[in-house]
Amino acid sequence: MSYNIKINQVQSSRVSEVDINNIAMGNAFTDHMFVCDYENGAWINPRIEPLTAIPTHPAAMALHYGQAIFEGMKATLGNDNVPLLFRPMENAKRLNFSADRMGMPSFPEDLFVESLKQLVALEKNWIPSEEGAALYLRPFMYADEAFIGMRAATRYKFIVIASPAGPFFSKPIKLYAETKYIRAAIGGTGEAKAAGNYAGAIRPTELAKAKGYDQVLWLDANEFEYIQEVGTMNVFFKIGGKFITPDLSGSILAGITRMSVIDVLRDKGFEVTERPIKISEIIEASQNGTLEEAFGAGTAVGIAMIEEIGYKDMKINFPKANPVSHDVNDTLNAIKTQKTADKFGWIVPAVTTALSK
Ligand SMILES: Cc1ncc(COP(=O)(O)O)c(C=O)c1O
Repeated sequence: MSYNIKINQVQSSRVSEVDINNIAMGNAFTDHMFVCDYENGAWINPRIEPLTAIPTHPAAMALHYGQAIFEGMKATLGNDNVPLLFRPMENAKRLNFSADRMGMPSFPEDLFVESLKQLVALEKNWIPSEEGAALYLRPFMYADEAFIGMRAATRYKFIVIASPAGPFFSKPIKLYAETKYIRAAIGGTGEAKAAGNYAGAIRPTELAKAKGYDQVLWLDANEFEYIQEVGTMNVFFKIGGKFITPDLSGSILAGITRMSVIDVLRDKGFEVTERPIKISEIIEASQNGTLEEAFGAGTAVGIAMIEEIGYKDMKINFPKANPVSHDVNDTLNAIKTQKTADKFGWIVPAVTTALSK
């Protein structure tokens, strides 16, 4: 199917008002946004227009019943300053997985990718060029039907906004393994990128921060024993020379960085196993000297080394010497900026294919 994306460009860009190479993600937004409406069972009127506030009815169902999902990805500059997307089809598929779980309509995957290409091509001057910097893209969908009552909405909006994200040099992080609150249970919404998952995580994260930690390390909902993931990252451990990461058990977000890291690690000759990981196994490896490294992996921060996990009244400390994670991060960044060959076929140039009805 082909779509006609109408473009209404701003008269003059605000990009010169923002130091795009020195701004933290999520603080400033580009000139335009992509918007598409869902009405009468169809996505209609795809358009790029000047970024502005959107009038919201006080009965908009997303505000009451939480039908709201989102994605997160980054655009970078490659050779000859061509804007690039990283595995956008994976985000399209995950958005629709989330939509399905939340009783929302799926969004056409070709239109998802095309909307990103066209928006990024238009906002090319907003893509920071510094090493490790990028233009963060936030596609999201929410129920905007005005109705009070518990059912799936019949009207939705799909929107993409973009925010320049200066270079992110992640310092080693400290995690608090939570034994009171949970993020997700099997059969719940943890596998979806649903806004409500994050709402439930805010208070426990604030409490962890008050204890001196950076993020929560979530454990399973049944026994508080199996490691799940970190706030907005999946997690990897290196024990006795081999990498392990929790398997996608039904309550963990299938991170696109996670799946890319697995491929990069295997390509570098490491063994990587996806399987249930008990926190007791990490404690044991720490005690017997086989625990070598741990890191979080996600779009926003890339790779973040873990230096400590607080669990009950103990602290698990991680060695910091010679981490493989730095090398993996460098490889991913080099692929994203075409400084190395894209042997996995992950890069998609944001060159627009004019679509017509
Ligand atoms: C809960 C959660 N886990 C993991 C991730 C990492 O996913 P990705 O690598 O696709 O950014 C994210 C980030 O979106 C997240 O919010």
